[in-house]
Amino acid sequence: MKGLILSGGKGTRLRPITHTAAKQLVPVANKPILFYAIEAMVEAGIRDIGIIVGDTHLEVREAVGDGSAWGARVAYIQQEAPLGLAHAVKIAEDFMAGDDFVMYLGDNLIRGGLQPFVRQFDEDKPDAMILLAHVANPRQFGVAELGEDGRVVRLEEKPPEPRSDLALVGVYLFTRRIFDAVHAIKPSPRGELEITDAIQYLIDHQHRVMPHVIKGWWKDTGKLSDMLEANRIMLDDLETSIEGRLEGTSQVQGRVAIAPGAVLVDTVVRGPAVIGPGARLEQTFVGPYTSIGPDVAITGSEIEHSIVLAGSRITNLEGRITDSLLGKDVEICRSDRTPRAHRLMIGDHGRVELP
Ligand code: G1P
Repeated sequence: MKGLILSGGKGTRLRPITHTAAKQLVPVANKPILFYAIEAMVEAGIRDIGIIVGDTHLEVREAVGDGSAWGARVAYIQQEAPLGLAHAVKIAEDFMAGDDFVMYLGDNLIRGGLQPFVRQFDEDKPDAMILLAHVANPRQFGVAELGEDGRVVRLEEKPPEPRSDLALVGVYLFTRRIFDAVHAIKPSPRGELEITDAIQYLIDHQHRVMPHVIKGWWKDTGKLSDMLEANRIMLDDLETSIEGRLEGTSQVQGRVAIAPGAVLVDTVVRGPAVIGPGARLEQTFVGPYTSIGPDVAITGSEIEHSIVLAGSRITNLEGRITDSLLGKDVEICRSDRTPRAHRLMIGDHGRVELP
């Protein structure tokens, strides 16, 4: 079995972060979302992985390399435009060379890995297997309708009137049959070749599409609140490891991982939280569910339930920062300049909330 990870697309809902970075490389618990997909595949015994890349291909290639860091072999497949998930399957046909494969959307996170689904697929040998999850907002997803016998009857992409609350999770298992389907379907009204239509084609042509309703946590990490939730879930699995240096009155409470080269001076970190390599925290409070990236410097400030990317600096803030995502090399500081005012330089689509 091979793997196909989709890491193209524009990530419009995570602007401005995604103006300069691929959304699949935004870190959750200090690890790019995409890496969780690679790890899950390798853990399920999948070593040959094709990654579909778009405009952000240089950055993805740089981060993942040839896959040897995971004991995998990674090949890159360039998609010239975001023409849909079924289009991504189409251009991966040569790479798959007739093998079964797991397709994993690079912005999805599922807890608990892929092993159970891969095993079930190997045992039951359907033509395709889809993962489903009960959701509160089915209009935002592909939605499945199951028949009384539990078989998949119909799939609809983002239906205005969903027939169930079962959303298609961004992980699919396919046999070579899917290639007949992606060649046969036509673009949807949004101009994309939809994977949902391709799977519906399999159903309509009497191929066996097996549903599997997942019990564990799953997230399609499109927007800020999803990122913060994913960060919470992943930090909940954190194991304590203190490799950095604690100085003065510094204290860590609960599950906290402090990377080598990080220095805490008179600082309290209340977990779950991760502090990246080279970070320097002085007279600071880091509260639960916070990921502080590499080389971040925080002095005289308080932050919780937030993600701070590499190289950012926070100095002498009065209020506590919460529910926030700061990009790379962001600077927030207090100043005594007159007039006393907010002075901002914020990228396109940035957002600031002041009390
Ligand atoms: C895609 C699929 C949709 C699925 C979702 C899961 O939607 O088209 O069927 O439910 O991923 O993340 P997109 O995120 O591309 O809008």
